[in-house]
Amino acid sequence: MRVLVTGGAGFIGSHVVEALRAHGHEPVGYDVREDPRADVRDPAAVARALAGVDAVCHQAAMVGLGNGFADAAEYVSRNDLGTAVLLTAMAEAGVRRLVLAGSMVVYGEGRYACRRHGVVRPGPRAVADLDAGRFEPACPVCGADLDPGLVGEDAPADPRNVYATTKLAQEHLAAAWSRTTGAAAVSLRYHNVYGPRMPRDTPYAGVASFFRSALARGEAPRVFEDGRQRRDFVHVRDVAAANVAALEALEAGPSAGALAVYNTGSGDPHTVGEMAAALSAAYGGPEPVVTGEYRLGDVRHITADSSRLRAELGWRPRVGFAEGMREFAGAELRGA
Ligand SMILES: NC(=O)c1ccc[n+]([C@@H]2O[C@H](COP(=O)([O-])OP(=O)(O)OC[C@H]3O[C@@H](n4cnc5c(N)ncnc54)[C@H](O)[C@@H]3O)[C@@H](O)[C@H]2O)c1
Ligand SMILES: [Zn+2]
Repeated sequence: MRVLVTGGAGFIGSHVVEALRAHGHEPVGYDVREDPRADVRDPAAVARALAGVDAVCHQAAMVGLGNGFADAAEYVSRNDLGTAVLLTAMAEAGVRRLVLAGSMVVYGEGRYACRRHGVVRPGPRAVADLDAGRFEPACPVCGADLDPGLVGEDAPADPRNVYATTKLAQEHLAAAWSRTTGAAAVSLRYHNVYGPRMPRDTPYAGVASFFRSALARGEAPRVFEDGRQRRDFVHVRDVAAANVAALEALEAGPSAGALAVYNTGSGDPHTVGEMAAALSAAYGGPEPVVTGEYRLGDVRHITADSSRLRAELGWRPRVGFAEGMREFAGAELRGA
């Protein structure tokens, strides 16, 4: 298959390119990082890039939590206008297979159960609670402590920041595109991806990169809140393999006229504090410091149930947490 990989020079995209090649496919990168003319928002440039292409793997996006609301227009432009231009060009070119880099951020807070009220949906955490060090969301009905669980794909969407909103809109655009054109689309909702070539720390980077960059400066990783927030850290090579599996399933299957969504996580949740400790130990650096600081817009616990991806696409994560963190401690990060 000849596959256009948008964002192919990025962290995850570059691993997708390698994985496609290893599986005998022909990846074609399309990324403004490599070529300023290769912008997904440029209809003529996208149309040229789609020549002879069988499928698109859409990784290009502006990522991360960003700077409050200041860059909202840029997120919407790159992520949603970009996706709309790309899908329009695909419809015109007759390219009928899409794999989209989705994200667990569309869920907002993870899944919670109250012992008395069952599954509940706590709203965004109040500043007063965070300032007082009350990081755990409480039952919206009775205020009791909640038990965090695994989110399934059918959990309602609840984007909590600009980036999350644009990632959800990308999925809605892909669903509308497949319905109107009869084409097939898959969204892989990645959890916290880490591994070689992860970007160094910027407001747009992930937490593993903040910690790894601190260690490289000889500093202790600074863990926000109380360090007990839970995440699913999934290795970038496993995410790349999920993209190949999804593309091959689209190649084999009938054109669906619908968007299929799959959580893409390791299935082995860890706290952010555990991740910092594993990374420090593997690096031989200072032990993490738990600071009690917080970022508005962060969620407390978000961990995936990725069994649908395993069952339907036969995907298995291959890189375990301890092994992946050991490798990441010595891995190269990408500069700006
Ligand atoms: N890293 C994670 O943990 C994570 C988690 C969930 C989802 N995702 C999604 O995975 C995808 C890849 O993210 P990443 O972590 O590799 O980030 P990244 O920043 O390393 O890669 C994104 C790439 O997209 C390119 N790009 C941005 N705007 C573009 C445009 N208008 N036209 C063409 N190229 C453009 C950038 O140059 C960059 O190389 C994104 O869609 C992101 O939302 C990432
Ligand atoms: Zn309750």
